Amino acid sequence: MDNKELYDIAIKMLEFSYAPFSKFRVGAALLTKEGKVYTGCNVENSSYGGTICAERTAFVKAISCGERDFEKIIIVSSGGEAWPCGICRQFMKEFCEDDFVIMTAKDRDSIRSYTMDEMLPEGFKL
Ligand code: THU
Repeated sequence: MDNKELYDIAIKMLEFSYAPFSKFRVGAALLTKEGKVYTGCNVENSSYGGTICAERTAFVKAISCGERDFEKIIIVSSGGEAWPCGICRQFMKEFCEDDFVIMTAKDRDSIRSYTMDEMLPEGFKL
C-alpha cells in the first residue's frame, strides 16, 4: 500500500477522534508487513493523563489482535503535522525494528518519512 492511500485512511480517523479538551484531532494508520491496516485516533479523558494518542491506539488494536510485524505508520492531525510524543516513540520502539517507518503529513502532498531510529535514537529496550 502506498503512502497516500495510508494517509487517506488516517484522515478518515479524525472523525472518530475524541478530543473535547485539546480540540486537536489526531488519526493514525498502521500497516503490518502482511499488508493489513490498523487505525487509531486520540481518545482523551477528563483525567488528562488517561489520554491515549492515535498511534498508540492503532498499535494496541494491532498487538491485541496478535500482530507483531510492522512496516510503517502515518500520523495526521487537524492542526498540521503531528509529531509522535515521547511516550509514543518509546511505545513503538517496543514493537518495531530500527527501520520501521514513521510518517507525518501537513497534507496529502507533503508526507515526510523517518525511521524508528531517527525518531528515537539510542532508544531503550530490554
Ligand atoms: N496526540 C496524539 O494523538 N498523537 C501525537 O502524535 C501527538 C499528540 C494527541 C494527544 C492529545 O489528545 C492531543 O493530541 C493533544 O496533545
